Amino acid sequence: MMGPHAMLPVLAPPPTKGHLSIARLTREWYVACRAEALGKRPLARTVLGVPLVLFRDGEGRARALLDRCPHRNVPLSLGRVTFEGHLECAYHGWQYDGSGRCRLVPGLESDAEAERDRPCPSAAVREQEGLVWVCPAFGEEPERPPFHVGVRELEDEGHAVVVREVEAPGTLHATIENALDVPHTAFLHRGLFRGVERHEVRARVRRTPVSVEAEYVGEPRPKGLVGRLLSPSGGEVEHWDRFFLPSIAQVEYRMGPEAHFVVTALCTPVSDFVTRLTAVAAFRTRIPALVLRPVLERVALRIFAQDQRMLRAQTENVLRFGGEQYMSTRLDLLGPHVWRLLRQAERGEPGETVVEQEVRFFA
Ligand code: FES
Ligand SMILES: [Fe+2]
Repeated sequence: MMGPHAMLPVLAPPPTKGHLSIARLTREWYVACRAEALGKRPLARTVLGVPLVLFRDGEGRARALLDRCPHRNVPLSLGRVTFEGHLECAYHGWQYDGSGRCRLVPGLESDAEAERDRPCPSAAVREQEGLVWVCPAFGEEPERPPFHVGVRELEDEGHAVVVREVEAPGTLHATIENALDVPHTAFLHRGLFRGVERHEVRARVRRTPVSVEAEYVGEPRPKGLVGRLLSPSGGEVEHWDRFFLPSIAQVEYRMGPEAHFVVTALCTPVSDFVTRLTAVAAFRTRIPALVLRPVLERVALRIFAQDQRMLRAQTENVLRFGGEQYMSTRLDLLGPHVWRLLRQAERGEPGETVVEQEVRFFA
């Protein structure tokens, strides 16, 4: 006879692998904020789950400490920066210098140093190209310098450069894959970027130990709004999508001599499922930047809102199912390579150089 359980409906979702594409590369540089955002007040930022407080010391240098007062655990970001450039806690007024050393306990005699000898952990900071970069591994410095965007070089070549910060509700890997994924643009962003007709495109993927690039050949000018704005006369385009370790996604379009467009998304993993993007967009076209800029910005924000919605839904569903399950085709050009690079870097394994066969598809 059948037991009573045989009649029960299945209430559990179908099993998934329990796998999550999360790599935590701690000894790397990530953008914390724009240099201009770090003024007289301390700024709270979380990188890879580590709460940090940024401030400028007496010499105006950007500094980063763990955002927790060693005295009673209050966030130091609630405090203020003193005239000497010390960070003063909002609770009892203890003061810390840029290296995290406690320099003053109000009311305690100056000879009581031994009582306030526990420093606040400090993180390495670099200021470069108008951005403040931090390494969330306390007391460690990455081997490589922060990614060089080349803002000055682009401006010298006549590009207009716009920097915008946005937040994506997705893992670093999902967010980067989204930024570099071509097939969804014709679908999710229909009409905004690519048009409805599809054309055969050829792509070649090259991977190095620290990066991967897809080069597209034979792509007609995107028929959507962005394509028409950037290159009114049409013609063939040159197009590259790139990823650089640890967290940089870059899309570049060249449409004849008249138009060049490159967006570099410097991604900062805030936590496992939230990624901050500092997008540096550089463009040069025949349309004056003053005219083009507001239009491009509006379209870009609309495109990003669509991506944001999908990333949120993807993240929620992955969590609802308790893990990921992916089925990739050759159209998923870069996502699997990006994951391989992140994984190898996390494990400290050496990367390899790979050149893939040319892939043909319709985009
Ligand atoms: S908690 Fe910061 S000074 Fe007391
Ligand atoms: Fe998108």
